[in-house]
Amino acid sequence: MLGKYEINNIYNVDCLAGMKELPSECIDLVVTSPPYDNLRNYNGYSFEFEKIAQELYRVMKKGGVVVWVVGDKIKNGDRTLTSFKQCLFFQEIGFNVHDVMIYQKKNTPFMRSNAYTNCYEFMFVFSKEKVCVFNPLKTKTARHGIEKLVANKKADGINNKVVAELKQEKTLTNIWSYAVGLGGSTNDKIAFQHTAIFPEKLAQDHILSWTNEGDLVFDPMSGSGTTCKMAKFNNRNYLGMEISKEYTDLSIKRLKMMPPQLFKNY
Ligand SMILES: C[S@@+](CC[C@H](N)C(=O)[O-])C[C@H]1O[C@@H](n2cnc3c(N)ncnc32)[C@H](O)[C@@H]1O
Repeated sequence: MLGKYEINNIYNVDCLAGMKELPSECIDLVVTSPPYDNLRNYNGYSFEFEKIAQELYRVMKKGGVVVWVVGDKIKNGDRTLTSFKQCLFFQEIGFNVHDVMIYQKKNTPFMRSNAYTNCYEFMFVFSKEKVCVFNPLKTKTARHGIEKLVANKKADGINNKVVAELKQEKTLTNIWSYAVGLGGSTNDKIAFQHTAIFPEKLAQDHILSWTNEGDLVFDPMSGSGTTCKMAKFNNRNYLGMEISKEYTDLSIKRLKMMPPQLFKNY
């Protein structure tokens, strides 16, 4: 139990009220995406960004990470930059801006007639004090094996060659690309009853990077349940909060559809 909430569940609650019921410093990782630019008026629901950010700071463990996935709306040709404002606020209240990562969409329908097609959102990575877990994701290098490499020139100016082993893999960069839509974001058709999901792989990549098995992953605005599903899939504990009953029910149904042999119980 975490306050009045059982872990490994998703609750239909305003996250501000919900987080107030959680003890301080109990969460290892948050992977979440707020309602973009519909501040204080999301389908009639309230979204009190500043208070939510402050509660997040309180419930995060020292060394814990918040991944805040957000884009901007364009109003009359003008980008709102709400993303930047939110990032600066997180920093102001004590979070460390550990990284500003990019979520690039491999396929995007949002064309503009007088600007380049926007194909990304920000993934702000905030930490409460110094990050305590980092399991870097790796990718294969294009060239590997033993090769003759040019060694640094010495004072004689001669370009020597040495036989050295090239690395098999390297750490990813901080720009991550994902296909979106059915088959890209997820194969779960039910998830598309929610209009603004992020890809399962995005959630999983952050979960693997910033937590270990058994850690607690929280999504305060869990929508269709993507973060919770991927936490469960990767043997992490999870907690979801979602203000819409419709989306809460949908996410619970989505998680129940996961075959039980895919995950361990904690
Ligand atoms: C961008 S969506 C999240 C989608 C989610 N990442 C996914 O993959 O399905 C934002 C969600 O925040 C929810 N929301 C808005 N205000 C909230 C609040 N105060 N507390 C909890 N949830 C809220 C909305 O109903 C919406 O489902």
